[in-house]
Amino acid sequence: MTYIFAHRGSSKDCPENTMAAFKKAFEDGADGIELDVQLSKDGVPVIIHDEKLDRTTNTKGNVADFTYEELTKIDAGSWFSKKFGSEHVPSLQMFLEWIAPLPILLNIELKNNVIEYSGLEDKTLQLLHQYGMEKRTVISSFNHYSLVKIRKMNPYIETAPLYSSGIFEPWEYVRAVCSQSAHPNYKSLHPYILEGFKRHNIPIRPYTVNSQKWMAYLFEWGIEAIITDYPIIARNVRNGD
Ligand code: G3P
Ligand code: CA
Repeated sequence: MTYIFAHRGSSKDCPENTMAAFKKAFEDGADGIELDVQLSKDGVPVIIHDEKLDRTTNTKGNVADFTYEELTKIDAGSWFSKKFGSEHVPSLQMFLEWIAPLPILLNIELKNNVIEYSGLEDKTLQLLHQYGMEKRTVISSFNHYSLVKIRKMNPYIETAPLYSSGIFEPWEYVRAVCSQSAHPNYKSLHPYILEGFKRHNIPIRPYTVNSQKWMAYLFEWGIEAIITDYPIIARNVRNGD
């Protein structure tokens, strides 16, 4: 069965990367949750997509210029709808506390391709270990050096390079960056590429698959997972409804 990962939580119904979006993804029956991690000014792993707060909070400025304490006071929900005004930028620890007892998979994307946060890999691994989440988590990043670093720190954690296109024989590349799976943009998935991944036994979790046509096509290929903004629709397509 192809797993369904909710992209930034159930981000079409709730503000992305908030606890509301993650709880909704679990209610929606997603098999996994995808989220983005950066570091606050005082080095706390926090969950937010952009390097700036501007788009998804009521505050302007760089995430890296705010302490975690300051981030907990910022409104990360009203931009989406007034009813989410009590949502804040969650810490990774707070999220793991919530998810650890639940039967659901996790994909942490390290958002370190624009800003290279010192210690992000180490802190993320420590928290995954603390909450016993290593076996059901895959760490992805567009920063492939960071993935090599992760595997040197912990040779048992699964890693997956994110890429949009332009990698020749990506199944070879996955091995070259010490990874076990790949997270390509779904638009790069021609039959030749899908066939190559299959032949080399490399699981893929393409992003961000929102069209029902593409969902059905990828389910038919029997790939490992899709990452989508629409977990309920994806479940219906998977069930043949
Ligand atoms: O992890 C897949 C996808 O989330 C990568 O792109 O920009 O949505 O983080 P982005
Ligand atoms: Ca992401």
